[in-house]
Amino acid sequence: MDPGGLIQTCLLVSIGASVLSGNPIGTSTINCNGGGNQRVGAVDEGYTGDVELVNGITPGQSVKLVPYFFPSHLEFLELSFTLGETTATVRTKKPLDAEALEDADLLLHYSVMCDGNADEGVIKHNNTRTLKVNDLNDNGPVFSKKLYSVTVSEIHPVDTEVVRVNAVDGDSTSANNRVTYSTVPSSDYFSFNNFGAFILTRRLNYNLVQNFSFVVTAEDKWGLVDTANVQINVEDFDNLNPYFSHNQYQAYIQENEASSIDNMQPEPIKAQDGDTGIDMTITYSIRAVSPEKYRITLTSPTLEFSL
Ligand SMILES: *[C@@H]1O[C@H](CO)[C@@H](O)[C@H](O)[C@H]1NC(C)=O
Ligand SMILES: *[C@@H]1O[C@H](CO)[C@@H](O)[C@H](O)[C@H]1NC(C)=O
Repeated sequence: MDPGGLIQTCLLVSIGASVLSGNPIGTSTINCNGGGNQRVGAVDEGYTGDVELVNGITPGQSVKLVPYFFPSHLEFLELSFTLGETTATVRTKKPLDAEALEDADLLLHYSVMCDGNADEGVIKHNNTRTLKVNDLNDNGPVFSKKLYSVTVSEIHPVDTEVVRVNAVDGDSTSANNRVTYSTVPSSDYFSFNNFGAFILTRRLNYNLVQNFSFVVTAEDKWGLVDTANVQINVEDFDNLNPYFSHNQYQAYIQENEASSIDNMQPEPIKAQDGDTGIDMTITYSIRAVSPEKYRITLTSPTLEFSL
């Protein structure tokens, strides 16, 4: 005999047994004279198999699986029953899912109804059942965006929020869906809080730093994580005055000559704007002329002086 074949057979038997034979979560005796209400028990989400063994069915009495408050819960269940038998079994049609029961306080609701003949005036009593489905940490946090990109003015007030990230964990209970946030690298300009917010901690200066990038991580209690990128772009604000490159400009002009002055030393007059990121138009004016008897006008923007 082939010993390999023997081992394989044994394995198959034991696997089959563990899935199919598992005891039902609860057993009950049906009451078709008055109905009833019962908590079947509790089981972890993901469970498949027998849920409830229903005893005490009078031979000839028909029973049916019907909704109890939450019709959608029946998508998880089916009833195994043959007319004439005294027992019926409620079992899963698909793995139980705590997230699908959130609005029912994680209680799966169903009813085994005694299905009489209405014409005979038989009351179709319900034997209502609830089964507690325990939430497992089968979901990790997920950021609402992979990239958070914001533009912030360099005059954004210190100690106020610049951008906030958010990750949601699909699990049903706070023990499994609470998310904590962290970020790298750390920065002198921003603090990062438990709510996922970047708070400006010192004045921005476009001329020094034009952008920041961070990687944020959301983690649940059991170590499931998601990451996202944060890009903060600084926008220049017109907060610096224009300035001249030289304190003094010189030009010579012939006596009695009224013309353009085009030999300005050390270079033509031109001012720079202190804000490097915005192209503001600079306007020029002459404050005073000495001796006062001369009149000098300037032609902007080429800055030609004429007498
Ligand atoms: C039992 O439940 C079913 C389905 O919800 C309903 O139609 C029926 O009227 C109920 N029976 C009684 C006696 O309330
Ligand atoms: C960030 O700023 C640097 C320096 O000004 C620049 O070279 C780079 O392109 C910027 N990156 C982004 C993503 O804007």
